[in-house]
Amino acid sequence: MSKVAVFGAGYVGLVTGACFADLGHEVVIADILPERIAALRAGEVPIYEPGLDVLLERNRERLSYTLDVAEAVSGAEFLYIAVGTPPTYSGDADLSAVWTVVDSLEGVAGRAVVVMKSTVPVGTGEKVRHRLDARGLEHVGYASNPEFTAEGTAVRDFQHPDRIVIGAFEDADAEAVAELHSGIEAPIVRADVASAEMIKLAANAALMTRISFINEIANVCEATGADVVSVAEGVGLDRRIGSSFLRAGIGYGGSCFPKDSLALKQLAANSGYHFQLLNAVIEVNELQKRRVIGKLQQHLGGLRGKTIALLGLAFKPHTDDVREAPSLVLAGRLVAEGAEVRAWDPVVHGADVLPQATILGSPLAALDGADAAVIVTEWPELADLDWARAADLMRNPLLIDGRNLLDPRALRAAGWTYDAIGRASA
Ligand code: UDX
Repeated sequence: MSKVAVFGAGYVGLVTGACFADLGHEVVIADILPERIAALRAGEVPIYEPGLDVLLERNRERLSYTLDVAEAVSGAEFLYIAVGTPPTYSGDADLSAVWTVVDSLEGVAGRAVVVMKSTVPVGTGEKVRHRLDARGLEHVGYASNPEFTAEGTAVRDFQHPDRIVIGAFEDADAEAVAELHSGIEAPIVRADVASAEMIKLAANAALMTRISFINEIANVCEATGADVVSVAEGVGLDRRIGSSFLRAGIGYGGSCFPKDSLALKQLAANSGYHFQLLNAVIEVNELQKRRVIGKLQQHLGGLRGKTIALLGLAFKPHTDDVREAPSLVLAGRLVAEGAEVRAWDPVVHGADVLPQATILGSPLAALDGADAAVIVTEWPELADLDWARAADLMRNPLLIDGRNLLDPRALRAAGWTYDAIGRASA
């Protein structure tokens, strides 16, 4: 069993730490936020991620939390970096948190390996290597081991990954990182550091491309009378294409896709390459988030003075994350059009998330007296709602299903004027 230090107690760091502890390793998670470390020590889980609480509790004996870098480093064989890499104004990834960790590493004994879990631009590993060498840490190894976990299913994704990607400068370091994962059944892809970094960015870009592709197909379906749900099913059954990430909707959000697409675009641009396809993918997504406004206007005329209920705020179900969520863009646009915005979400409650909206405690409370409703996040609670009762509560029973969650016929039968994404004929 190994001793692992994880820097960063966010989504990625906590899931990584908890899963390594569950494999039997001794894990210390370090962060710079005192309240976060205090909460974790008190047995509280500061984020909403299904299964994480159980894992942290089950492995309590093997997990510790600290604000002290020296304590984390002491005796650790692996130094995982799992800090945020948000975009800067230029679109480049902001690596300042990564550098803070690298520059704080001291007293590293033996051949510990620094392992990059955070998503970073290609070339970062090379730079970290130089920085470690310059600080007299030549004896410390370096590996890139990107994460492919999606929020809401992060624990399962970590424990049952499609592959484990490891890029290292030295074979022995790659082998050590591979060994650390023993107990997880998955192919291991060994690559050089730059390629490992690029695998992460390219995989995300491929998934985003599929989403923008199906969203454009949806928009053409609307214009031509086809139904994108049937189209996606028929297209996805082609084994060469596959069915995942072909759900049309109001666009992708979250902590990874928007940020990583900008980082890859900028990375290409910095090297003199104009990544045309990726630019189109990003632009299609921005337009898609705003399409619902056009639909509301089509049905209601102007939006001034109208009350619109947003159902779901999180960027996807089973998470409390609203980073780059379509709900934020929608609410902002609606307020700019003069509408009154109400919202409901089962896990996002804070009024600080959406100060321009009134947050209500149930979908029915949000719908009561509204002129239109928009399904922004496909929460299961919405699939199970009594939509006939809900229609009676509305001033005007208009529903725009931004996630194609519901059955159009059932909703129309329940008294709704129902519109969705790419479902002209449904
Ligand atoms: C994603 C990647 O899946 C993960 O591998 C990477 O490490 C981080 O980014 P995440 O952002 O948590 O994970 O969520 P994901 O489930 O991939 O969904 C991203 C966005 O795409 C969501 O807004 C979702 O609603 C949207 N989406 C997804 C679609 O609009 N249509 C689809 O078919 C699939």
